[in-house]
Amino acid sequence: MQRTFILFKPDCVQRRLVGRILARFEDKGLNVVAVKMLRITPELSKQHYAEHVQKAWYPTLEGFITGGPVVAAVLEGLEAIRVVRDMLGATNGLNAAPGTVRGDYSSSRQMNLVHGSDGPEAAQREMALYFKPEELLAYEPTITKWMRAADEQ
Ligand code: TYD
Ligand code: MG
Repeated sequence: MQRTFILFKPDCVQRRLVGRILARFEDKGLNVVAVKMLRITPELSKQHYAEHVQKAWYPTLEGFITGGPVVAAVLEGLEAIRVVRDMLGATNGLNAAPGTVRGDYSSSRQMNLVHGSDGPEAAQREMALYFKPEELLAYEPTITKWMRAADEQ
């Protein structure tokens, strides 16, 4: 089992796409183990996007990500980090494959709707940035036995 951090960005909230996109992840079989709505501060943006702070385009990214409320969440499932990244598609919505979130709903490089952790280290770091350990709730859905075979762990 793996956990990954996702963030419905301000464009996603403003366009009222949070429910539809969260439903895609639920439909896939991922467990929602935490959800929170918040407004990202410039300080939190710099922590979240630490690897990009020096980039020429960072200031516009910070303006965008702090420009409205977001919804942060943690999803759990087998290979969840890669599965979610595959479902999101390429960074630029114009390049993202049809069928992916960004391919279906975004025509922008910056306003690409949803963030997903890009590896186990990033997932740990990002979950800790947005959630306290006790805000992550583990549970076993009773439907699991109809979602995959018992030996698929
Ligand atoms: P990046 O980590 O490259 O993409 P991803 O979200 O797919 O991991 O970039 C982080 C975010 O920064 C990206 O989702 C959108 C934004 N961004 C820009 O605003 N301008 C850019 O030129 C790039 C490459 C990204
Ligand atoms: Mg990235």
